[in-house]
Amino acid sequence: MPLIRLEGVTKTVPLADDATLDILRGVDLEVDAGEHVSIVGRSGSGKSTLLNILGLIDAPTTGGHWFDDRDVSTLRSGTRDRLRGAQVGFIFQQFNLLQGRTALENVMTPLLYASGRRFWRRRAIAGAMLEKVGLGHRAEAMPHRLSGGEQQRVAIARSLVRDPRVILADEPTGALDIETGATVMRLLDDISSDTGAALVTITHDLAVAALASRHYALDAGVLSAARPRVEAVAPAAAVGPVAPAPEPGPASAPAVIA
Ligand SMILES: Nc1ncnc2c1ncn2[C@@H]1O[C@H](COP(=O)(O)OP(=O)(O)OP(=O)(O)O)[C@@H](O)[C@H]1O
Ligand SMILES: [Mg+2]
Repeated sequence: MPLIRLEGVTKTVPLADDATLDILRGVDLEVDAGEHVSIVGRSGSGKSTLLNILGLIDAPTTGGHWFDDRDVSTLRSGTRDRLRGAQVGFIFQQFNLLQGRTALENVMTPLLYASGRRFWRRRAIAGAMLEKVGLGHRAEAMPHRLSGGEQQRVAIARSLVRDPRVILADEPTGALDIETGATVMRLLDDISSDTGAALVTITHDLAVAALASRHYALDAGVLSAARPRVEAVAPAAAVGPVAPAPEPGPASAPAVIA
């Protein structure tokens, strides 16, 4: 049973003058626990719209959406919000850290909504999570004192601190240089596979996408399976199987999704 299932999902929004815009057109997608799925598409193809639906922020116009075999369309908004808070972690291009709070306080924030032991132990749990991303020594630093890569590692710690079953990353390396982006992406891939969470990465960067175990392309709202044509940002052996390209082109070939 997949953790997430979309069937024939469409998203249509009204524009001025009675016109409408079809952002997503019949998207089918299944993601299992522990899987890393990448979605590549050009600007405006509907990637963030799709991610917002997967993350229970937005609802499809038509089509089916199941989370852990629960029909999401039947959930009340409060139930949906609680499900999102407990089960989904988000990572954004711009990190979205709270500026007036230390790294540790940022990571603790999601635990303010936890109950019992996890609430009372939030400082220790958040500290351990910061250690895991290699930033235990920067717990008291304010975000503006941290580099972009460090800020994204804090954001990763924050998104994982509630042990979500799904992590949704929207251009997680978009604001980082290539090397820092590769390091951050490997960390995200490692930690999410350690915890058994499903990871969905949206990116323009085919080297980032190549880390995933399954690959999709989104083109004008149509999602289709794709094969990576570039090397992953980490050795394939370290990150699990990556589907081989049918006929690898020369090293200088432009990066394309087939
Ligand atoms: N509520 C809305 N009303 C009108 N148009 C919208 C709305 N939401 C999204 N769009 C449009 O739908 C298209 C897809 O938007 P989306 O943000 O999903 O793209 P994207 O693939 O994430 O792009 P980018 O790579 O630039 O972030 C865009 O043309 C956007 O302007
Ligand atoms: Mg987007």
